[in-house]
Amino acid sequence: MAATAVQQEENQLIVDEDEEEYGCLPVSKLKVDNVKQGDIKQLMEAGFHTVESIAYTTKKTLLNIKGISEAKADKILAEASKLVPMGFTTATEFHQRRQELISITTGCKSMDDLLGGGIETGSITELFGEFRTGKTQLCYTLAVTCQLPIDHGGGEGKCLFIDTEGTFRPERLLDVAERFGLSGQDVLDNVAYARAYNTDHQMNLLTQAAAMMAEARFALMIVDSATALYRTDYQGRGELAPRQAHLGQFLRFLLRLADEFGVAVVITNQVTAAVDGQSFAPDPKKPIGGNIMAHASTTRLYFRKGRGDNRICKVYDSPCLPESEVMFSIGKSGIDEAVEK
Ligand SMILES: Nc1ncnc2c1ncn2[C@@H]1O[C@H](COP(=O)(O)OP(=O)(O)O)[C@@H](O)[C@H]1O
Ligand SMILES: [Mg+2]
Repeated sequence: MAATAVQQEENQLIVDEDEEEYGCLPVSKLKVDNVKQGDIKQLMEAGFHTVESIAYTTKKTLLNIKGISEAKADKILAEASKLVPMGFTTATEFHQRRQELISITTGCKSMDDLLGGGIETGSITELFGEFRTGKTQLCYTLAVTCQLPIDHGGGEGKCLFIDTEGTFRPERLLDVAERFGLSGQDVLDNVAYARAYNTDHQMNLLTQAAAMMAEARFALMIVDSATALYRTDYQGRGELAPRQAHLGQFLRFLLRLADEFGVAVVITNQVTAAVDGQSFAPDPKKPIGGNIMAHASTTRLYFRKGRGDNRICKVYDSPCLPESEVMFSIGKSGIDEAVEK
């Protein structure tokens, strides 16, 4: 299915370097007595690039930043909360805002329908399942479709991709780009990629991500996988508590990025055999990360193998979707409708 030149032109990206207003206030807009350029720099180095990020944080966190005294923290917070609406609103207004939420197409119409339009921006979607069930392949598809115009199922933004397993293959993005009539070069240029080597590094990359998101419009942030390095860095029951605490902090940071920049956050996760004696359960596989993961992920999707080459995606937990499932396939050009055999 070769895309015509016209189609290619039509779908061409709008996310070039030219500046465009997109919702968040840079921290430099914060004008507070006694808060100098140096303090703003310290805030930015600590990962606070927008007024929103400050409004959403606690005083305790600000006090940990060099040069921020109690008096300064109070003033900064008071000023930030004047600029960012954080009080009550009506359900009507909230409903209207939710209707304006952008969803990113998965490439498979039936999966989009299952998800109420696609992968939702502004929250975390977790893809979990065994190896080779299509988690990474869906990430590749989304890394491309998030760049499409909104009326073509995209998010008109760039993608940030954190790879912890060393499985990232840009060639796959080129295959998907061709299917959607996008220029391969542009698609690759719009994906910021980083390999994470340990859990501290994985966390530090989020600080860099926050800086990048304050500079350009991103629609999607992927962490593939969010938990793999936790399994290698923390071992045994003795390290379970610090592992969960670190993972909790990591996920909270992701949630903040989703809120602050309105990006869709997609994380992948593996499963372990449940060893709690429930061997009669229909599927004795559990996602890693326990309650911490369960609470951070807004939508949890369970991937498994289906008939033939098909895969199955099941809504495992969602605040507004029923627990249904859909069959899909993985093709050269990404996630697609299930194939009948
Ligand atoms: N170029 C391709 N064309 C068709 N199918 C592919 C291609 N590359 C990978 N796949 C399919 O994707 C599967 C791997 O899915 P992946 O998303 O990488 O798994 P995981 O869930 O472990 O991340 C492979 O088993 C294969 O079936
Ligand atoms: Mg994978």
